[in-house]
Amino acid sequence: MKTYKIAVIPGDGTGPEVIRESVKVLEAASERFGFKLDLNYYDFGGDRYLRTGETLPDSAIDELRGYDAILLGAIGHPDVKPGILEKGILLRLRFELDQYINLRPIKLYPGVDCPLKDKGPDDIDFVVVRENTEGLYVGGGAFLRKGTPHEVAIQESVNTRHGVERCIRFAFEYCRKRNKDKKLTLCGKTNVLTFAWDLWQRTFDELKDEYPDIETDYAHVDAITMWFVKNPEWFDVIVTDNMFGDIITDLGAMIQGGMGIAAGGNINPEGVSMFEPIGGSAPKYTGKNVINPLAAICAGGMMLEHLGQEEAAKTLEKAVMEVTGKHLKSLAAGRMGYSTTEVGDLVADYVSKL
Ligand code: IPM
Ligand code: MN
Repeated sequence: MKTYKIAVIPGDGTGPEVIRESVKVLEAASERFGFKLDLNYYDFGGDRYLRTGETLPDSAIDELRGYDAILLGAIGHPDVKPGILEKGILLRLRFELDQYINLRPIKLYPGVDCPLKDKGPDDIDFVVVRENTEGLYVGGGAFLRKGTPHEVAIQESVNTRHGVERCIRFAFEYCRKRNKDKKLTLCGKTNVLTFAWDLWQRTFDELKDEYPDIETDYAHVDAITMWFVKNPEWFDVIVTDNMFGDIITDLGAMIQGGMGIAAGGNINPEGVSMFEPIGGSAPKYTGKNVINPLAAICAGGMMLEHLGQEEAAKTLEKAVMEVTGKHLKSLAAGRMGYSTTEVGDLVADYVSKL
């Protein structure tokens, strides 16, 4: 029987609660579809940092390379200054494990309230491919004359041919495999950021000749936020840089029903990938059994698909759609009509029987 070694990092706040339900559903899938999950838990997060002063031990990175995938809950603690855990854990893992794609499906499931008037599941079903290891996230820059009235703060965006090309190539391949509208939209800012987006545009134009079956398109990032609201049905796959991808995928999460359902994958196609619900640690709901675990469950589904368990991943998604379509009153914490554990039970049950 195929066995997958999975590192689980439940993390902070409601992370452990949603990961528990995600694991419950994954176990149901493994039983039904005949594979095994060998789970190993790690306590990285705010509590460990406050206790030990350490975000991620160096040895952890090498250890994590030995897994088939990583499942992450949430990182973020009200008593830790913003930036320490994000940079020390989440971004460090993305960078050091070279997870150069951040894959964010934006799909409105049946029964889910959409804030866009007259838009339904047929209109909202696209995927954002966000570059995940370059751009402004590299953290390059400098202060000059810090603290004086003449202070200068420089924040650099790093875009390499290698990094841009592998991201765009992934997006073309993904679009082909997805086989929906076979349309790839480059989202950038070629009218103002004329160094970075010149490189992106040139690379995109060169690669598109290799993919004659894929229709291509371009949208400025500011305009795309408009189209997400007005015409989300126009999109199939979108490729963009790290910062723009960060921003537009939060908007995407809202039009698919909110953070309760939004999942993402940090993908290294040649290495170890990490899957996470994209909402935060939601500390005010911690321990109340009211947080929505569907985003973490969907992250688990993305992990199954990545591992090659496509039938299991499809069934998991169908199970989630049964639950949103037939059971939940809302996706919002405390208003679902069910507790966190009950939602996990429902999805696991459908996974076993569907
Ligand atoms: C995300 C998050 C992270 C990011 C933060 C927590 C560093 O917002 O995954 O989108 O900016 O990438
Ligand atoms: Mn973000």
